[in-house]
Amino acid sequence: MEQRSLGRQGLTTSAIGYGSMGTKMAYGHSDDTASIAAIRHAVELGVTHFDTAELYGWGEGEKLLGAALAPFRDKVTIGTKFGWTKEFGFNSRPDHIREVIDASLVNLGVETIDVLYQHVDDPAVPIEDVVEVMAEYVAAGKAKYLGLSNTSAENIRRAHAVHPISVMQAEYSIFSRESEALFPVLDELGIGLVAYSPLARGFLSGAVKPGDGYGDGDMRGAAPWWAPENFDANIAITEQLTELATSKGATLSQLSLAWLLARREDVVPIPGSRSTERVAQNTAAADLKLTEADMARIQEIAPDGGIGGRVTF
Ligand SMILES: NC(=O)c1ccc[n+]([C@@H]2O[C@H](COP(=O)([O-])OP(=O)(O)OC[C@H]3O[C@@H](n4cnc5c(N)ncnc54)[C@H](OP(=O)(O)O)[C@@H]3O)[C@@H](O)[C@H]2O)c1
Repeated sequence: MEQRSLGRQGLTTSAIGYGSMGTKMAYGHSDDTASIAAIRHAVELGVTHFDTAELYGWGEGEKLLGAALAPFRDKVTIGTKFGWTKEFGFNSRPDHIREVIDASLVNLGVETIDVLYQHVDDPAVPIEDVVEVMAEYVAAGKAKYLGLSNTSAENIRRAHAVHPISVMQAEYSIFSRESEALFPVLDELGIGLVAYSPLARGFLSGAVKPGDGYGDGDMRGAAPWWAPENFDANIAITEQLTELATSKGATLSQLSLAWLLARREDVVPIPGSRSTERVAQNTAAADLKLTEADMARIQEIAPDGGIGGRVTF
């Protein structure tokens, strides 16, 4: 698969990565055996970058991903994150960061975290103090590259002044364009973009259901794209996108991922799936090339992204 550089510090990953949030939160019941098979199939298909966080099952997601990748440790890079509390508050106090990272190393079963992220800004802790702690782990060989997520251009600039930041992880998809406002600072500082929820949390997958159609533990039903007043308009957008995808012999998921790859050379989408078939479908998007006419048509179909705002989880 095509390789992409993220940041100026040497991080290189497959053009399409893998996000493991759904293995332990957000999208309802998961089967660990199926999730591990999906993760390992991604490796077989050339995916080399895998994403997790303390938040995804409070250590359970890291354990699952670490176990799945243990046989391939030298072939892959793993990113994990600290910063959310169980009440969906923020905690990036230095002592807490150290506790979480030390636990992440154990949960993942690794000596070094390849990409260490602050998951979300903590307004109570200056970003300089946060990055100083992250840099301690780089100095100790326990983290290799640093990243930020869900934060502002100003924080990115202040963080980068303390220690080079290689990656910004932000929501980015045909439905969610807000992160494009960060392009100038990312260009200025040479920071790569890991695109999270690249399939709009499944809305751009061809398998979307009405908000009340998901099972227990699935957090999507309450999200604005699924709200009754927005759902049909968003479905109409996906129908037009699917028509374009079909004309290119592709699926909606593949078109959505190829769109991200075509937007910038340093974007790496991390679609999440707990199925080997869907991982294969998503990974094959790396071979789908969109023309300028395709990109223009997508812009015409969804000029403002999805209808309704994005959520943060
Ligand atoms: N930094 C942050 O704050 C943040 C926030 C959200 C997410 N993330 C990261 O980004 C990753 C991806 O985001 P995400 O999981 O929210 O959303 P996503 O990748 O946009 O969509 C995932 C959903 O789409 C389904 N899906 C995936 N491929 C499909 C296909 N080819 N056909 C049909 N359905 C498909 C998945 O179901 P199945 O599993 O059943 O296939 C799952 O329900 C996460 O796993 C996480 O690592 C980070």
